[in-house]
Amino acid sequence: MRRDPTPAYDAVVAGHVRPGRSLLAVLHAVQDDFGYVPDATLASIARAMHLSRAEVYGVLTYYHHFRCQPPARLTIALCRAESCRSMGGEALVAHAEAVTGCKIDAHLHEAVGEAVGEGAEHGDVALESVYCLGQCGQSPAATIDGKVRARLDTARFDRLLAAARAVQAGERDGLRTTSEGEQA
Ligand code: FES
Repeated sequence: MRRDPTPAYDAVVAGHVRPGRSLLAVLHAVQDDFGYVPDATLASIARAMHLSRAEVYGVLTYYHHFRCQPPARLTIALCRAESCRSMGGEALVAHAEAVTGCKIDAHLHEAVGEAVGEGAEHGDVALESVYCLGQCGQSPAATIDGKVRARLDTARFDRLLAAARAVQAGERDGLRTTSEGEQA
């Protein structure tokens, strides 16, 4: 993933625009490059594809896949499908929002310009909804930093969150830290 803070957006976009290539494909490529679709790329994309900026923005915000802000360092995807709901999944979502200060699916709200509160999307944590992780027999389930975790309750969630944050802090500091090693 590209992390250049001052990228030459026109050049990056030009590398992705080809005859016959769709706007969706270009948006995917830009998001693959940066981890999100920077606002500053919209004008470049519009120019390169002979579209209006409004047309590009409309497609960008229509599809939930696309992010308009840099992703958080730590992503937690909480299952909100039937089995997990019946086992306290929504209470776990409320707990996760309370302890992280984030709003579930904040990136979707931000994409359509809704104010969701400072740090709601791209602080150190992002909360996302997911619909079934194949762990229905061990509900409620979630992924924390990409790892599937099941049989969650608030105490186990807090331990796993603290462990994931510690690992990320260690990575940022260039140190090796160990997680608590819990399995799903
Ligand atoms: S419903 Fe949550 S893991 Fe299947």
